Amino acid sequence: MHLWLFGYGSLIWRPDIEFIDRRPARVAGWSRRFWQGSHDHRGLPEAPGRVVTLIRDDSASCDGMAYLVDREVVEETFSQLDYREKNGYERHTVHMEFRDSGHRDTGVVYIAPVNNFAYLGPAPLADIASQIYRSSGPSGSNMEYLLELADALRALEAEDAHVFELEAAVLEAAGKELTP
Ligand code: BEZ
Repeated sequence: MHLWLFGYGSLIWRPDIEFIDRRPARVAGWSRRFWQGSHDHRGLPEAPGRVVTLIRDDSASCDGMAYLVDREVVEETFSQLDYREKNGYERHTVHMEFRDSGHRDTGVVYIAPVNNFAYLGPAPLADIASQIYRSSGPSGSNMEYLLELADALRALEAEDAHVFELEAAVLEAAGKELTP
């Protein structure tokens, strides 16, 4: 069977996987939050950055991109993603709604649960923005990750106050640093 994979973070703008089709999709009951520590991509073990995970929230929904993966490459795709997302993420199955047609299907999603070793949890927006602004790791700067995500969400015409408020705060911090 082919399989749908739901991306809500870097998978939206940098899937780096083989797929047959992709469609904007939404999952109800979850919100996207910069609450997961990144020691291996956008930060370092001694200075973790922050990346997104999904948090249960009955009043929310999260927009992302669903990728249809051919059955022949499903196992290989999971091996690749399990390695890439080894810092606390687990595979879950969620119900998705495709934004173009309204049709529903199930999809696999990588979620970092609140009890994982790298979980950082909530913090004041200014503190999260400052951590993102300062952090960098083997995959690049944490700020780039946030700005790429915000751009990708705008391209999807997706609402996400948490991401857009963080983007504004980080750009303000960068502007202040550049101002003599
Ligand atoms: C994603 O883009 O769906 C994703 C987010 C965090 C970890 C792995 C994948």
